[in-house]
Amino acid sequence: MVDEAHSSCVLGKTGGGVDEYFGLEPDDIDIKMGTLSKGLGTCGGYLAGSHALVEYLRYNLPGFVFSVGISPPLAAATLEAIRLLQERPEIMENLHRNIRCFLSEAHKRHFNTCLAGETAVLPILVGADENAHKLSMALLERGVFVPSAEYPAVPRGKARLRFCVISEHTPEQIVTALDALEDAAAELGIRLPE
Ligand SMILES: Cc1ncc(COP(=O)(O)O)c(C=O)c1O
Repeated sequence: MVDEAHSSCVLGKTGGGVDEYFGLEPDDIDIKMGTLSKGLGTCGGYLAGSHALVEYLRYNLPGFVFSVGISPPLAAATLEAIRLLQERPEIMENLHRNIRCFLSEAHKRHFNTCLAGETAVLPILVGADENAHKLSMALLERGVFVPSAEYPAVPRGKARLRFCVISEHTPEQIVTALDALEDAAAELGIRLPE
């Protein structure tokens, strides 16, 4: 089972995720799960697998048996987002330009981007939970929205800021956000781990 929260709409030429990126057959991975809240910009999630598996889940998962399914507006917006990705290759091109720009600008400033690679949720290691929270608030005051990821989402002492880069960002906005982080850290006397 592969969690595609960070790969669908990001990896592969048209954002098809790990299958498209690694050239896999659709049934090479038994179960793919993902969120609609990142690359697709809506809300909810999905599980993809064989017809038999999906039929089984449809009649057994509490989310389907005891609750309601995805709302029609969210389903429609999700489908439209997939259509746009397939029709407009510049969305993926801009996204990857921005991911590369973020990483090179972050490394120029000696920020630690943990295991960031080619996906759009880009961490910057801060260390103490309290510092990550303080920096997130200081960045908000400077007009940059970056939530922190703290324990128990990450190990203690490994809190980070979780930047999300999108295709519509400009390189100038990315530079401004990272300058704001440098500025906020200096003002708060927080030394970011290299
Ligand atoms: C790896 C991973 N899986 C799943 C999710 C769940 O996403 P959501 O609850 O927004 O659908 C996230 C969200 O940050 C994630 O990073």
